[in-house]
Amino acid sequence: MQLLLMGPPGAGKGTQAAELVKKYSIPQISTGDMFRAAVKEGTELGKKAKACMDAGTLVPDEVTVGIVRERLAKDDCKKGFMLDGFPRTVEQADALAKILDELGIKLTKVLNIHVPAEDLIERAVGRRICKSCGATYHIKFNPTKVEGKCDNCGGELYQRADDNADTMKTRLETYENSTRPLIEYYQKAGIYAEIDGRQPINKVTEDLISVLSSVKD
Ligand code: AP5
Ligand code: MG
Ligand code: ZN
Repeated sequence: MQLLLMGPPGAGKGTQAAELVKKYSIPQISTGDMFRAAVKEGTELGKKAKACMDAGTLVPDEVTVGIVRERLAKDDCKKGFMLDGFPRTVEQADALAKILDELGIKLTKVLNIHVPAEDLIERAVGRRICKSCGATYHIKFNPTKVEGKCDNCGGELYQRADDNADTMKTRLETYENSTRPLIEYYQKAGIYAEIDGRQPINKVTEDLISVLSSVKD
């Protein structure tokens, strides 16, 4: 299955991708996670991405498309993949169509997790991530059993630099201006499905799986 998980910042893409990649044994390709890893390693890519991420704006298309092209060419994507947070502009969507065409594959489904803007700032500001295994939590909606310690591995939790109310405002504006038009783009392509992301995490997962169970690969 070649899947694309869409949704505004904080909608639950990463949370849901973690479940779906286990179920379907496909890799998750999150451009945000790739950029954060590059920032941590201090690579050229990280240097290019950091200022945009901290500001809540988009990393330039030519940089982003390049890393996705390289990633999709890897062997583990032959059995399918789940894109998370890419594409985010019509230009990126056109570039993706070209890359997939060259690889001779098609997108199976585009899944949009719909959450209204008023819920998203609270989701981002309360998010906590494990330093060791990357698991995502929320101080109110998905708390760890022991405060500050990951349930999976006991690792320490941290907050993303862009998870503050100010940067979230810009991220939401960026979403409205650049990414929302992709809804119509994929509706027209006939592969679009919308899931109500205001439900509890496990219910959103169930709805996603239910959409995918009716899809022919
Ligand atoms: P990226 O890392 O992709 O950030 P994003 O799109 O803003 O999305 P998030 O990761 O913040 O949210 P999510 O939907 O994954 O939510 P999560 O599951 O964690 O991108 C970061 C930056 O990188 C961008 O701003 C940009 O600069 C750059 N970038 C990335 N891709 C790019 C591209 N293609 N082009 C250009 N630039 C790019 O959940 C959020 C919180 O809510 C968690 O605490 C979670 O526990 C909680 N939660 C999840 N589901 C629920 C639920 N159902 N109910 C209650 N709480 C929930
Ligand atoms: Mg994410
Ligand atoms: Zn952990």
